[in-house]
Amino acid sequence: MSVRRLAEIQPESFAFTQDNLQWAEGQIAKYPEGRQASAVIPLLWKAQEQNGGWVPEPAIRAIAEMLAMPTIRVMEVATFYTMFNLSPVGEHFVQLCGTTPCALRGANALKDVCRKVIGEERHVTGDGKLSWLEVECLGACSNAPMVQVNYDYFEDLTPESFEALLGDLRAGKAVKTGSQTGRSCSAPSGGDTSLLDEALYDGSVVGAWRKRFDEQAAGDATESDSAAKPAQSARPEAKASKGKADADAKPADAKPADDRPSDRSRREGQPAWAGGKGGVADLPRPSKPSGEEA
Ligand code: FES
Repeated sequence: MSVRRLAEIQPESFAFTQDNLQWAEGQIAKYPEGRQASAVIPLLWKAQEQNGGWVPEPAIRAIAEMLAMPTIRVMEVATFYTMFNLSPVGEHFVQLCGTTPCALRGANALKDVCRKVIGEERHVTGDGKLSWLEVECLGACSNAPMVQVNYDYFEDLTPESFEALLGDLRAGKAVKTGSQTGRSCSAPSGGDTSLLDEALYDGSVVGAWRKRFDEQAAGDATESDSAAKPAQSARPEAKASKGKADADAKPADAKPADDRPSDRSRREGQPAWAGGKGGVADLPRPSKPSGEEA
């Protein structure tokens, strides 16, 4: 991360335009009384926008006064976040991602292009059109290497396409944003590899799932009908055997077998509080104070 210093040459003063002042007051009003300092980032952002892409020191003081904050606290915010430029930038401000995925895909070669076409970092070209800065990941790693120019992303760059892009920007020509190789969003660079059936997108398969489910439900109904008939004919026999089964079950309910789990656990040395015969319920109860009913 680079050292962030205020520009050596600063304007005398800063004041929001009438429109921006109204906008700033609207931002401040969003926060409860005593929490106006929370508007510091949007106000710095608006000051940067008004001032051609960078935040001058008088704007930091003006915002501190508006928000009743110590100037040093606004300064801390402005110098911490790299989204705030502290010195003049070109009309087309290039932020070049140098983080690992972009570095692995050729960001260093793009930096060489910047040095060749623009100069060193933060240098503004003589015509005021271009300047650049290396930044950390801009979240478009799948289309690396990439740069952000003002508010637009340019992805899948090569040294050649990047140099051509800078030339077009400088010449005021229309440029294509996004992937420079024509890939759609972050699809595989060699073309799509899945969901290739065009029928998925022409509407012809809409509702196909319902037909399949209806057919499956009809098949299930037929199967259950044929299965139900033998079951009904067997019912008298089932009734006859039920009485016998009930009778067989009674002795087992009447007296627990010696090897029921609770009895077995006692034999295996579990403490009385673990339950079963001889458990908590069988422990001697404390005697009640005299005069109290049992
Ligand atoms: S590493 Fe370059 S965009 Fe994420």
